[in-house]
Amino acid sequence: MLSIALIGMGSAGSRFLRAILYREKIKGDVKLVAICDRNRERLENFYNTNIKTYQKVNDLLINGAYDIIVIATNENSHFNILKDIKKYSTKYKRILVEKLLVEKFNQVRDILSIYDENEIAVHFVERHSLILKYLLNWMQTNNLTVKRASFFWGKFRLYDHRPTIGVTSEISHPIDLILMISNIKPGTPFEILGGTYVYSDFSISGKQVLDTINVNLKIGNEILVNGSSSFLWEKRRRNVQFYLANSEGIVTYMVVLIFDKPHWDMDICRVYKVNLPYGRKRLINT
Ligand SMILES: NC(=O)c1ccc[n+]([C@@H]2O[C@H](COP(=O)([O-])OP(=O)(O)OC[C@H]3O[C@@H](n4cnc5c(N)ncnc54)[C@H](O)[C@@H]3O)[C@@H](O)[C@H]2O)c1
Repeated sequence: MLSIALIGMGSAGSRFLRAILYREKIKGDVKLVAICDRNRERLENFYNTNIKTYQKVNDLLINGAYDIIVIATNENSHFNILKDIKKYSTKYKRILVEKLLVEKFNQVRDILSIYDENEIAVHFVERHSLILKYLLNWMQTNNLTVKRASFFWGKFRLYDHRPTIGVTSEISHPIDLILMISNIKPGTPFEILGGTYVYSDFSISGKQVLDTINVNLKIGNEILVNGSSSFLWEKRRRNVQFYLANSEGIVTYMVVLIFDKPHWDMDICRVYKVNLPYGRKRLINT
């Protein structure tokens, strides 16, 4: 039985809460023993339960030992929480951090210097989508590889009440999915071929928050990616497209992944045969 402490009880934390309690009930191999949120209201429902509640991370760490510590707070707090865990907690087996690991690049170096790589896992929720499992199996059966990819990944988030580090957080999802589907090994070099980015004061997090990115990337020697991400769109739009090549390197299929449509966590995979006479494409599966 693995004991779990959950830090951050907002949108992402609530999803973790549901998942942990479900697993606790169905498999019985985990147990949520403590939660923490600096916002008292988010803890009130747990006051009369066996789950210990804390408003300060340090109190949670000093007063208990946990096998798994989940960090689901806003990104700007991840760095200090990770440092505090190293300082006050020794027993943990694994730390699970919601993406992004930390806010700034120099913080990554600090975290790498105090943690062993295997101690921390970064969580990207879209990785759990069933359409990815389907796509990977189908690609393997048909001996297809990713040649190019593109994405449109954004939403309406003007003046949102939650702190944000900007659209860098948003863009991490499609890039992670492209790395996963393309089977890119960690550490593979990438190159930014070009792009534009825009800062604005449309956020509660400051006067200079990155709200839009358009980028062209080259990952490894072969895979070209172009993508757009923004907080200024009318509504949520989360698409990733893959252009798949056969064993001779010729693009024969296009796959369109559409996330959270028609409902949150309901995703669509459309497969098109391309390179047909007169440049036509044909939908073969959805
Ligand atoms: N909302 C989503 O669907 C979603 C999806 C994927 C990833 N994420 C990631 O999850 C993380 C949290 O996002 P969110 O949307 O849940 O934000 P949120 O604002 O809804 O929730 C964050 C919670 O953390 C608490 N908190 C912040 N700093 C704290 C601290 N130092 N100590 C204790 N509590 C603290 C806040 O009070 C709040 O309740 C981010 O890293 C985000 O990128 C969110």
